[in-house]
Amino acid sequence: MDAAAADRVRAALVERLGRESVVVSPEDRRLASADASRMFTDCLAVVRPKDEGEVVALVKAAHELGFTIVPRGAGTSPTGSAAAGAGQVVVDLSRMDRILAVDARDLVAEVEPGVLCGALQARCEEAGLFYPPDPASSRVSTLGGNVATGAGGLRAVKYGVTRDYVLGVRAVLGDGSILDVGGRALKSVVGYDLVRLMVGSEGTLGIFTKLTLKLLPKPESAETLVADFAAVDGAYRGADAVLAAGVLPRALEAMDGEVAAIVADYLGEAADPTLGSRLLVEVDGDREAAARDADRALAALKAAGATNARRAADPAEREKLWRGRRSISPAVYRASPAKKSEDLGVPRSKLGEAVAAIKAAGRAEGVRVIAYGHAGDANLHVNFLYDPAQSGAKERVARTIDRAMDVVLAAGGTISGEHGVGLKKLAAARREISPAALAIMRGVKNLFDPRGVLNPGKAVPAEEDLCAS
Ligand code: MLT
Ligand code: ZN
Repeated sequence: MDAAAADRVRAALVERLGRESVVVSPEDRRLASADASRMFTDCLAVVRPKDEGEVVALVKAAHELGFTIVPRGAGTSPTGSAAAGAGQVVVDLSRMDRILAVDARDLVAEVEPGVLCGALQARCEEAGLFYPPDPASSRVSTLGGNVATGAGGLRAVKYGVTRDYVLGVRAVLGDGSILDVGGRALKSVVGYDLVRLMVGSEGTLGIFTKLTLKLLPKPESAETLVADFAAVDGAYRGADAVLAAGVLPRALEAMDGEVAAIVADYLGEAADPTLGSRLLVEVDGDREAAARDADRALAALKAAGATNARRAADPAEREKLWRGRRSISPAVYRASPAKKSEDLGVPRSKLGEAVAAIKAAGRAEGVRVIAYGHAGDANLHVNFLYDPAQSGAKERVARTIDRAMDVVLAAGGTISGEHGVGLKKLAAARREISPAALAIMRGVKNLFDPRGVLNPGKAVPAEEDLCAS
C-alpha cells in the first residue's frame, strides 16, 4: 500500500469510527506496533474501540478497504503475537476494560478484554474470591491477551492455566459476525469445545469482546518459602522432593543462582556468589493446612540438600521475594546487550537433564545460557544472552536455540509451554505439529476467518510452509 492509499484508509477509518477511536500519529502507530518480542515495523493505524459495535465496524472496514487486523491487549507477548507491520491496523482493546460482573454465588466473572489480570485478581480478593491464573506480567497484561495467548504463570502447578478458567467467549469473527460460545455454567459438554479452541488462538480466529471466567473461593492463607541450593540443579531436585512429600504448592518457581544475582543487581540488593539455584515455594489453603504443608515442604527441601530453607519472615519479605521473581524478565534485559528467551516444556522427569543439555549446547557455542521458571510444571524460560555487535554471535545463538528445540522435542516436550507461537516460533512449531494436525488447523482458521483478515501469519505456520514440508 503506497503512502496516498494509506492516508485514504486512515481518513476512511476516522470517518467511520470517529476521532476518539482512531489514532494515526506516527509515534502512536510505532508504539502500538511493537510488543515484547521487539519484532515490528510500523502499522497503518491504531483503532481503540469503545465497544463491540466498533470492533464489528473495523472488521467490515478491513474487507472494504483492504487491510488486516492485529488484536492487542497490553503488548506483553514475547513471541510477536501482537506485533504489527505495514498494511495492518492494530485494534488496541484497552478501552474495553469494564469488569461486568463478579458473582460469588455462580463463581463467575464477566469482563471485557481490556481488563488487567491484576485488576480482576484484586476485585476478586475484595469479594473473598480468587482468580488463580497469575502470569508473571499480571499487573500489566490484559485478560484478553492472557486468553488469546493461553497464558500460564506462577500458580499453574496447582490451579492450572488461563485455559482452565475460561467458561465463555464472545468474539467478532473474520467476516464481522459475532460468535458467542460457552457461558456461566461451570460444566458443559454440548458440541465441539469452541471455547477451548479460541483460547491460545492469538487473535487469529476472533477478536474477543467479552470473556466469562471461572472463580474459586479465596484460600484463607498462603505461605511463601525460599530454599537455596549450592548445585545448579538443586532447585529442580527440591521441587521434585516437595511433590514427592505429598505437598501440592500453588507455586514452585526455580531460578539459577546467576538469575538470582541478576535480579539482586536490578533491585539494588546484595547477591550471594555461592548460590547455585533458588526455589520459591508457595503453599495455600486454610491456616492449619497451609502451615502443615509449609512444614512438610521445608523438611523435604532440607532433605533434598537445601543449604537454607525457610519461611518468608513477614508479608514484606514475601512481597519482596515475588517482586524479585516477577522482575526476572526486565532484569535480564538490562543485564545483557541482547537476549533470546525460549519458553520450553518437558515431562517433569526430564527437566534437570534437558536444562543441562541446553546449557552444554550453549557452552559448545560460547553462548551464555541461564534458566528460570515454573519448575512445578517443568516449563522453563531458558535465556540466551549475547552481544549482537560480536561477529557470529547471532548465528551461534540461533544454533544453540535450534539444539534446545532438539532437546525438548526428543524428550517428548514442547517448544512453548505458555508464551505461544506468535511470529517468533513458527519454524519451531512446524517441528512439533504434525502435517495432518497443521492441515486441520489451517481449515479451522479458514472457517473462522475465510479472507484471512485476523492476525495473519501468526500462531500456525502457513500453507506454503505446510507444502514445503
Ligand atoms: C515469567 O515467567 O517470568 C514470564 O513468563 C515472562 C518471561 O519470562 O518472559
Ligand atoms: Zn513464565
